[in-house]
Amino acid sequence: MTVFGPDVLTDRYQRPLQDLRISVTDRCNFRCTYCMPLDHYDWIAKSQILSYEEIRRLVAIFAQLGVSKVRITGGEPLLRRDLPDLVAMLSGIEGIQDLCLTTNGSLLADKAASLREAGLNRVTVSIDSLNPQTFARMAQRGNLESVLEGVAAAGRAGLSPIKVNAVLERGVNDHEIAELLAYARSHGYEMRFIEFMDVGNVNGWSSSKLVDKDEILRRVAAVHPFRRPTSARGSAPSERYTFLDGQGSFGVIASVTEPFCGACTRIRLTADGRLVTCLFSTGGHDIKSLLRSGASDEDLRRTIAEVWSGRSDRYSEERLVAISSAEGYHPDSVRKIEMISLGG
Ligand code: GTP
Ligand code: 5AD
Ligand code: SF4
Ligand code: SF4
Repeated sequence: MTVFGPDVLTDRYQRPLQDLRISVTDRCNFRCTYCMPLDHYDWIAKSQILSYEEIRRLVAIFAQLGVSKVRITGGEPLLRRDLPDLVAMLSGIEGIQDLCLTTNGSLLADKAASLREAGLNRVTVSIDSLNPQTFARMAQRGNLESVLEGVAAAGRAGLSPIKVNAVLERGVNDHEIAELLAYARSHGYEMRFIEFMDVGNVNGWSSSKLVDKDEILRRVAAVHPFRRPTSARGSAPSERYTFLDGQGSFGVIASVTEPFCGACTRIRLTADGRLVTCLFSTGGHDIKSLLRSGASDEDLRRTIAEVWSGRSDRYSEERLVAISSAEGYHPDSVRKIEMISLGG
């Protein structure tokens, strides 16, 4: 175990606070079946959404507490007006070394250049299928063409590396592993296959829909031999493998079968100003009320530090124990926060 010095803020399991995922909106123009499948959602009222200035102030405090990596997410973050303005505000904050965006790519073609100019380092785009029908079945809205244009524009703008995320669902898109790899390899992107997770309460998760890491690796090995990772992956959810032919790498995010809670250094800030210490949390800590009540930076710093130091989340590890137990795992036994308000 790594031992951190007295100045490093750690939680109850000695995990330091290093990454911040900021959801800038709960809205999305897609309805991915595994994420927000319903037609209608009650969106957060505009007055409850953190302003860019409020986000900037919090990020500066997070940076003082040890955060060096910031990921902007949603819903779909590019639905938020003038997102490059926020990027410019955050990229200037001392201590933030990695500023990235997770997007569905549909609006990226128009925004990529201005995001890059504002200081964004890189993007991760979700593409679950390269077949327009399967894409439509999974995303339920939007179209594949605009997403592919968006990714290409990100490459031209110099955003790098570009990562492509695909959530695999058995019988739906799991036969497309080779095609997705071919697309990513030919463009120099890093393909990442994600085990379908039971986030939220309405995505119909069941273990029968899961394509696990072992199977993913077997299927990739059948088309492109790769090397096992030689170095530890640190706190990243993705395990990376390098192709033996030298044409890049791919990743697997196995949060169901190989949970990575032990090294989880991530905190989430929701669009309506709650701090959430786990993707599977049932609630959050309201920081917006404090922020809007005239609190000083020191008050905010103390509150964030208290939230992190009291943290004992390890949901995915507990789930794995439950899956293997005699009682089994019942995803609906806990009322989790929906993925859209968490930003994944
Ligand atoms: P990199 O910084 O490029 O490594 O990105 P990332 O993998 O941290 O972020 P991304 O937004 O691409 O997320 C990829 C997948 O990992 C998504 O399905 C996320 O929901 C999942 N994920 C990210 N962080 C966590 C986490 O802390 N716990 C769990 N269980 N899943 C996570
Ligand atoms: N399981 C796994 N990954 C998910 N994502 C959204 N919902 C799920 C789920 N149920 C992923 C998206 C996106 C990232 C932020 O989270 O595909 O790439
Ligand atoms: Fe929207 Fe991303 Fe969720 Fe799909 S995975 S519904 S694009 S937020
Ligand atoms: Fe971190 Fe919770 Fe994910 Fe575990 S399940 S890695 S504690 S966010």
